[in-house]
Amino acid sequence: MSETTLTAKTPALTEELRESPFMRACRREPVPYTPVWLMRQAGRYMPEYREVRARHTFLEMCKKPEVASEVTVYAAHRLNVDAAIIFADILLILEPMGLDLEFAKGEGPAIHNPVRDARDVGRLREVEDAGALEYVYEAIRITRRELRPHIPLIGFAGAPFTVASYMIEGGGSKNYVHAKRLMYTDAGAWHALMSLISRALVGYLNAQVAAGAQAVQLFDSWVGALGPDDYREFVLPHTRSVIERITPGVPVLHFGTGTAALLELMREAGGDVIGLDWRVRLDEAWARLGDVAVMGNFDSVALFTNPEVVRRRARQILEQAAGRPGHIFNLGHGILPETPVENVLALVEAVHELSSNKSLESEV
Ligand code: CP3
Repeated sequence: MSETTLTAKTPALTEELRESPFMRACRREPVPYTPVWLMRQAGRYMPEYREVRARHTFLEMCKKPEVASEVTVYAAHRLNVDAAIIFADILLILEPMGLDLEFAKGEGPAIHNPVRDARDVGRLREVEDAGALEYVYEAIRITRRELRPHIPLIGFAGAPFTVASYMIEGGGSKNYVHAKRLMYTDAGAWHALMSLISRALVGYLNAQVAAGAQAVQLFDSWVGALGPDDYREFVLPHTRSVIERITPGVPVLHFGTGTAALLELMREAGGDVIGLDWRVRLDEAWARLGDVAVMGNFDSVALFTNPEVVRRRARQILEQAAGRPGHIFNLGHGILPETPVENVLALVEAVHELSSNKSLESEV
């Protein structure tokens, strides 16, 4: 572990932040209303985002702290959500590790020199304190100053499997043929790669905390491609090693999609809050997980309806949570680009209103 990691400090949590509904829910304490935030809340569905985006490439936006901060703060305030997430990307860490990253127009991310075998793994750079990602830490410092003082800021990174799968596939993938081939044929190279990524993630996440993030989220967006035995052997020890080394006292949100068969194992890997996608019932998933907070799990596609349907479906999720401490409302995955803003606003309002009204059932 690097010196930076060992000495990383949690910036003094103000009373306001510590007692905010989001932070209380992370600790499974009672809240006056269910806190809500939305993955990809600062994104293309929002006209103000598209306006800024028209003047910069996506990577430029990430690398200009004032711009990243502006869109982070704007989205959180506009939506009236209970937490902000720093505008960045899970793939930024690939650059200091020696990979050539591009977000090609309309085609999603591309890595031009993907990692395919043990030799490629050997060429990757160790990123001890992720100093090359200083622009993210600066964006966090600015955002912490600009955000309302009671709104926590979430830092984030990809989880080791999801980061590794991008490195190996060279972009998005349907079947993860390259990633699984490396995993199944050269376990040594696989574990070496996952360890290298995990060390980088620890430094990166703790530096985000030191810069002013109150919580961190690990996105294991593609881990649902694995069955439980492979998760246990090839992923769990690495994800756990990251979560264990996060600055003590900082809540960790551990999110994945397609994870219905993996929830208990994700719990074993760690996290104070387990993120659920929309394919599971929240109450059943929570029963399986036990004593941990949960986040989710509204279907992003249901935002393409109207405020009445949105409200009805939000209520169904709140009813499953049944007012138990430790529920953070979110989508089951990110907001999609064409989503009508008015339905997003209606969702946040519905969650606040319905959850502060103790008699959920009495409303027609
Ligand atoms: O949630 C937020 O508002 C914070 C910002 C954020 C972004 N990416 C901004 C972004 C976060 C938390 C992410 C995480 C991320 N990035 C994930 C995990 C979350 C998930 O969705 O599962 C993944 C898999 C990525 C990788 C990534 N970044 C992809 C696949 C793409 C292309 C998506 C597409 O549809 O083109 C991106 C680009 C990206 N990251 C955009 C945004 C707002 C769109 C960029 C643009 O404006 O063109």
